[in-house]
Amino acid sequence: MSDLEIKNESSRLLDKQRRYLELDRRWLREEEKRRGRRLTSCVVTFGCQMNARDSEKLRGILEEIGFVNTDDEHADLVIYNTCTVRENANTRVYGRLGHLHNYKDHNPDMLIGICGCMMQEPEIVQTIREKFRFVDFVFGTYNVFALAEILYSRLESGSQIIDIWDHTKAIVEDLPADRKYRFKSGVNITYGCDNFCTYCIVPYVRGREKSRTPEDIVQECCRLASDGVREVMLLGQNVNSYGRGLDEPVTFPQLLTQIEKIPGIDRIRFMTPHPKDFSDELIDVMSRSKKICNHVHLPLQSGSSRILRNMNRHYTKESYLDLVSRIRERMPDVSITTDIIVGFPGETEEDFLDTLDVVRKARFDSAFTFLYSKRHGTPAADMEQVPDAVAKERFDRLLKVVDETAAKENSRYVGRTEPVLVEQVNEHDPSLVTGRMTNNLLVHFPGDASLVGEIVPVKLVSSKGFYYLGEKV
Ligand code: SAH
Ligand code: SF4
Ligand code: F3S
Repeated sequence: MSDLEIKNESSRLLDKQRRYLELDRRWLREEEKRRGRRLTSCVVTFGCQMNARDSEKLRGILEEIGFVNTDDEHADLVIYNTCTVRENANTRVYGRLGHLHNYKDHNPDMLIGICGCMMQEPEIVQTIREKFRFVDFVFGTYNVFALAEILYSRLESGSQIIDIWDHTKAIVEDLPADRKYRFKSGVNITYGCDNFCTYCIVPYVRGREKSRTPEDIVQECCRLASDGVREVMLLGQNVNSYGRGLDEPVTFPQLLTQIEKIPGIDRIRFMTPHPKDFSDELIDVMSRSKKICNHVHLPLQSGSSRILRNMNRHYTKESYLDLVSRIRERMPDVSITTDIIVGFPGETEEDFLDTLDVVRKARFDSAFTFLYSKRHGTPAADMEQVPDAVAKERFDRLLKVVDETAAKENSRYVGRTEPVLVEQVNEHDPSLVTGRMTNNLLVHFPGDASLVGEIVPVKLVSSKGFYYLGEKV
């Protein structure tokens, strides 16, 4: 489909949803009259920023219908937006569904929905169908925009609705979204992933990579800016391959340059770039920009070139380290963070030592570390697995090195004054507020709620490892 055909298909789908929104609204009004109170809804997110953004869209739809959003899972309608990137994500969802079942026993009118990446796996949907009959509706990653319709089908039929698509070409724009923060927002720029790293299930549950058009992205950013948003986080599984499939291809750095021009947007972040696509053009645009934040999250996965090849990552230990030094050369203050997997099939002690070596040499400001988790249907699931005890022992050693490096890196800003975007009143001490520097580190400093959403200069007085204490100047 051409960009224009995609657009037409999207607006057709959206019109249909508008009709269902109206039907749901009518149902809700009747239901509230019958029960003599407002009905509440709660969306719980598991997984990454893509899911968090999808959840905002789900909340937006529920709000349009007329539900009162809450964080309390005793609500009248609860939706779990699931993740399946590692096995423990799945286990958690099953555990929590058990609790929801109890709540439903006390409130038989309660509606329970599950969606997200786990639901794109047929075996899991089969389990829900057989063992979790109390779940009212199930949908997947491709039809988040169709919640109004799915809910209405459940209300009409009175039985469990399972509506999973195996792909979509349309990208439905202009859905309402209920943002968590009024001053910052995620913005999807690509959906899906074509990289097929051999350990990863995301390409199977999120489908092929699709880029939104730059016009749509810029328009959304402008709309957000006029709504008070000052910081946008551009989201995609591999943001720096953005634009390849468009009718008129655009590169990621070109997109950044367009977003840079939008008045009102003061900070631009993105997540996640892939090392193999991190071009010099991107480094150049970042280093010149006044708005792109001083932070690069650059997933390493492994420091061993042999393992990286088996992971299908398309870079080596040396090329990764070279990229890090090229980034640091042009952006001396940059904070570099990463993701690392320990215990990928076939990983030897020597491979693991390469990972430790890269952690020390790259001087990561922080790292998310994961034990390899076998995902059904991925190539790595059929490779020779590392014994759990060996992987666990390596994991603990890695954590120590990561913590040592991070503590050293993170204290380097003490004494400086940095712009801080204030996010909230401190949860533990209401005399303090908490904000973020452009390098993504948190700062706590004396202040009150009036500062929330403002960018203020803060002197960094002391470093506490993963955050700073400061004073507004
Ligand atoms: N597209 C992003 C993020 C993917 S998921 C990227 O390529 O970096 C986030 C992280 O989960 C990955 O970076 C990886 O470190 C981890 N991960 C993915 N699959 C995994 C698996 N099977 N076992 C353990 N960790 C995994
Ligand atoms: Fe998974 Fe690799 Fe795609 Fe990231 S780039 S989502 S790790 S396949
Ligand atoms: Fe999880 Fe899906 Fe994100 S599997 S990490 S929620 S894309």
